[in-house]
Amino acid sequence: MLELRNLSVTLDNGKEPVEVLHDISLSLKKNKIYVMTGPNGGGKSSIAKAIMGIYPASKGQILLEGEDITSLEIYQRARLGIGYAFQQPPRFKGLQVRDFLTLAGGPDTRVNPCNLLLDVGLCAQDYLDREMDSGFSGGELKRVEIASILARRLKVAVFDEPEAGIDLWSFQKLTETFRDLHQRQETTLVIISHQERILRLADEVILVSGGRIANITNCEEILGDISRTDSDCLCRQECNRKIQINVECHR
Ligand SMILES: Nc1ncnc2c1ncn2[C@@H]1O[C@H](COP(=O)(O)OP(=O)(O)OP(=O)(O)O)[C@@H](O)[C@H]1O
Ligand SMILES: [Mg+2]
Repeated sequence: MLELRNLSVTLDNGKEPVEVLHDISLSLKKNKIYVMTGPNGGGKSSIAKAIMGIYPASKGQILLEGEDITSLEIYQRARLGIGYAFQQPPRFKGLQVRDFLTLAGGPDTRVNPCNLLLDVGLCAQDYLDREMDSGFSGGELKRVEIASILARRLKVAVFDEPEAGIDLWSFQKLTETFRDLHQRQETTLVIISHQERILRLADEVILVSGGRIANITNCEEILGDISRTDSDCLCRQECNRKIQINVECHR
């Protein structure tokens, strides 16, 4: 359904071009849940942005249901049914939550902003008329952004660290919402996450590191790998050893 073929992305950070994604190949199937995980700076958000068309491909192709969408703009991909909930959502000053969610739903008149807010654990009475300005907390903004993606009937929905800033009480509701969405609609879900409870939803776990796909595996394997890995970085091990032999740590 969604295929990345040898995709590379090069960005210009103002000084020199940097290749942030190298030769990514992925094949995502209809109505499956993929959880993308891996170290910070590994390239997860960049893959999401490349799928959405925010970062252009410098090499390779992106295909949606066999159609080459590599050269399509963001709005064209959105029309074809791709949605992306940002890791750090933008604030829309002057826009009320009700209008934002109605706009997100597009021509689909069945969209009910109250139900969408309930799906992300927000009380409609408290939030429908609020403006999405600087008075919105990070967690509130994140949840309304997720609700805006739920408003659309998508072929592919990408959620970038949906758990970030979400309190423990609402987090459970959010995982149920993802499960529901998966059961109700034929949406392919790509959830970027570091959370075990989200990893447990995955049909496949995609490990991204160093701008590459390091592995495609499952939740049990990845959690097993993490527990076997010595979590101390090499520097810490060195420092600890020095402390044990009474040599002052250099940090
Ligand atoms: N617009 C940009 N310009 C320059 N470099 C960028 C840009 N966006 C991302 N990068 C670099 O690409 C690499 C991958 O970043 P990305 O945001 O995709 O990582 P990530 O896996 O999502 O990390 P995190 O877990 O911290 O969210 C990083 O080294 C980052 O600094
Ligand atoms: Mg990221």
